[in-house]
Amino acid sequence: MPGHDPAQPLPAIRVPGFPLQEHDGLLWLRPCAEGSEQLPALARELAPGQRRFEWQAQWRGHVLDVMENFLDALHTHYVHAGWLRRHSQRRPCQVALDIDGERVRVDYRAHGEQSGLVYRLFESRRLGESAHFQLPGSSRLQYDYRDGSQVCISLHFSPVDGRNTRILASLHVRGRWAPRWAVRALLWPLLAHVGRQDAAILAAQQDNMARFAGRRPARMHGDVLRPVLEDWWLHGRTPDPAHARQLTLWL
Ligand SMILES: [Fe+2]
Repeated sequence: MPGHDPAQPLPAIRVPGFPLQEHDGLLWLRPCAEGSEQLPALARELAPGQRRFEWQAQWRGHVLDVMENFLDALHTHYVHAGWLRRHSQRRPCQVALDIDGERVRVDYRAHGEQSGLVYRLFESRRLGESAHFQLPGSSRLQYDYRDGSQVCISLHFSPVDGRNTRILASLHVRGRWAPRWAVRALLWPLLAHVGRQDAAILAAQQDNMARFAGRRPARMHGDVLRPVLEDWWLHGRTPDPAHARQLTLWL
């Protein structure tokens, strides 16, 4: 302690320590009481042997906006037009939002077939599609197929500051032919392009919010996850079960 009188005892200054846990290639640290769970159940549910790809990035955007972007299905027709879905081929879809403590799940009773290039090249008829979120910042898009196989894209979010968010991502595949080299060589270039489209729209969103400071963004009935995410990130409380609902969206 520079400048401290050596004849005097050192003041009692301590830095709190938190347990660290390794799982599936990631190190987890959550500043919470000792003995409580570091690892979100959402990350624990996927078998490490099914991991085919990992990736990390830093995007310009508040953590709320970045998480909402990943979990939102409705923007895909515009931002990823032709790659994930086509606007001209929207159809009504039953959507169910469930909230259970720290966990949130959105189920889309998906049409078996999708309209985008990624689906035509790499997928088969879907049984269902779901978006999962767990406090404080873990999420998963899960695709279940009629042949019993499954593909999961997981993203974990960490705010760098109020304008930038770090993302750690992984791709898990169960029951489908998807060796690492093939995912890296064939699928990843397409997903990387989709990611750049998301990063660009988030940067544009942030620029527009700065340009029109003080205006509140418009919100539609289809933006089902925004109030859930805000409960935690703006108000520090677990999501209100009153947000749960069922509705029809054109997907
Ligand atoms: Fe997107």
